[in-house]
Amino acid sequence: MTTSTPLLELRGITKRFPGVLANDDVSFDVRTGEVHALLGENGAGKSTLMKILFGLYQADEGQIMLRGEEATITSPTSAIEQRVGMVHQHFMLVPTLTVVENVALGLHDARKLRPDLDAVGARIREISEEYGLEVDPDIDVWKLSVGERQRVEIIKALYRDAELLVLDEPTAVLTPQEVDDLFVILRQLTAAGTGIVFISHKLHEVLALSDRITVLRNGRVTGRTVPAETDRQQLAEMMVGREVDLAPDRPIVETGPVRLSVSGLHVTGDRGTPAVVDVDLDVRGGEILGIAGVSGNGQRELAEAIAGLRQLDRGSISIDGADTTGVTPGMARAAGLSYVPEERMKDGAVGEFDVAENLLLVDHGDSRFIRNGLFDRDQIETHAARLVEEYAVKTPTLHTPTSSLSGGNIQKLIMARELDSDPLVILAAQPTRGVDIGAAEYIHRRLVEQRGEGVAVLVISEDLDEVFALSDRIAVMFDGAVVKIFDRADATRESVGLAMTGVV
Ligand SMILES: Nc1ncnc2c1ncn2[C@@H]1O[C@H](COP(=O)(O)OP(=O)(O)O)[C@@H](O)[C@H]1O
Ligand SMILES: [Mg+2]
Repeated sequence: MTTSTPLLELRGITKRFPGVLANDDVSFDVRTGEVHALLGENGAGKSTLMKILFGLYQADEGQIMLRGEEATITSPTSAIEQRVGMVHQHFMLVPTLTVVENVALGLHDARKLRPDLDAVGARIREISEEYGLEVDPDIDVWKLSVGERQRVEIIKALYRDAELLVLDEPTAVLTPQEVDDLFVILRQLTAAGTGIVFISHKLHEVLALSDRITVLRNGRVTGRTVPAETDRQQLAEMMVGREVDLAPDRPIVETGPVRLSVSGLHVTGDRGTPAVVDVDLDVRGGEILGIAGVSGNGQRELAEAIAGLRQLDRGSISIDGADTTGVTPGMARAAGLSYVPEERMKDGAVGEFDVAENLLLVDHGDSRFIRNGLFDRDQIETHAARLVEEYAVKTPTLHTPTSSLSGGNIQKLIMARELDSDPLVILAAQPTRGVDIGAAEYIHRRLVEQRGEGVAVLVISEDLDEVFALSDRIAVMFDGAVVKIFDRADATRESVGLAMTGVV
């Protein structure tokens, strides 16, 4: 093998599923000691390509070359034998076993039935030290944080001598601080000669970490580049296949009166422990307040309390000057609140109902749609058709069951319904989670438009890019409390990211 021979070369990989061409003649290579990012929207074919490499799927066409020679990879076991390791999107650890036991699972020792756990533990310590993968080998996996579990997965692959390591969306579950830690580890691995495939749809991460970038769209390669020669904008366009506007223009808007006020709020969570602790927030008309934070730090309970969906223990809430403390969701809505919930199918739309019905949900008491005591079908259809058109909801018909739409289209449908009611306050929780860049761009533009019309907008998001793209001020929640509120001009990714871990 010469130094120019790539560690991995995928040649012309094609993979069909019934009705879907998941990979269409994809070529991709990885050299020793580099990070090659595979970037693409949901459904672009990234995981499929890597599952072929890991022996979970067989390609219909194409070849896998490892170290210059054609390889046959029929199962994960054969992938591991050929020194390919994979950290899946969903971890594959047994929570009730210790780290050592998890790493030892499936190891074969020709001389004994069971591998020697002490020896495994000692080797884990060595690997941990060598690459800065801190973790206690003797701890039960269920006690570990998500970031630590991911480190165990990486250790597991390294224990098996992986020379090529595939990480499928490894940052999706991490805090910004944990992402930084992971990147340090990955750089140490590449310095030691490991080749890494880094799968992501997050542009800034791909730019920060990779040596090379390959973009997939609808199963095809739509771009190959390197960070020095590209930027977020261009990468987004390769992913989406058209021009996109990542940060909507936010014209200067004169802020109006306080439209949403939360004061001294305490809320108990599902487990009976305090979820929201003494939160004070004011949002003015014409302002977007972003709430940043790792999910699970009280954001959901805060939103539900404001929307009238969750009882509060103490404190008060007002919408446009009217006291809405402890009111029903209907009363919060009547006071001027529109709510785009985090759990779309649970709280935002009814899957079995069709598109037209879901566009109506909140309005069905509305006299526009009732004639002689009955629903006026024609009016309902006209209303639905207008919103579907205006909000670019892609649906085959108005009577398609909502559950069969894509996540992005369900979200646009909910936004259409919520924004059409002329709100004074919009509360949007994770408005673009799981949504493609194209739909996210659209949703962002609509929220900024509402700001321009004097609406007070509260956006709760785990996605720092989103928070930065939208917000006039940024509040950070940690452990139930608002630990810091930044003016947009003073906020940096680092300072906000740090506050998200409770450090202020
Ligand atoms: N096991 C499967 N059976 C049928 N279709 C699949 C299967 N796995 C993936 N697909 C389809 O293949 C396409 C690519 O999916 P995937 O590789 O998971 O994309 P990505 O990882 O980029 O989000 C999608 O349209 C997806 O629905
Ligand atoms: Mg995937």
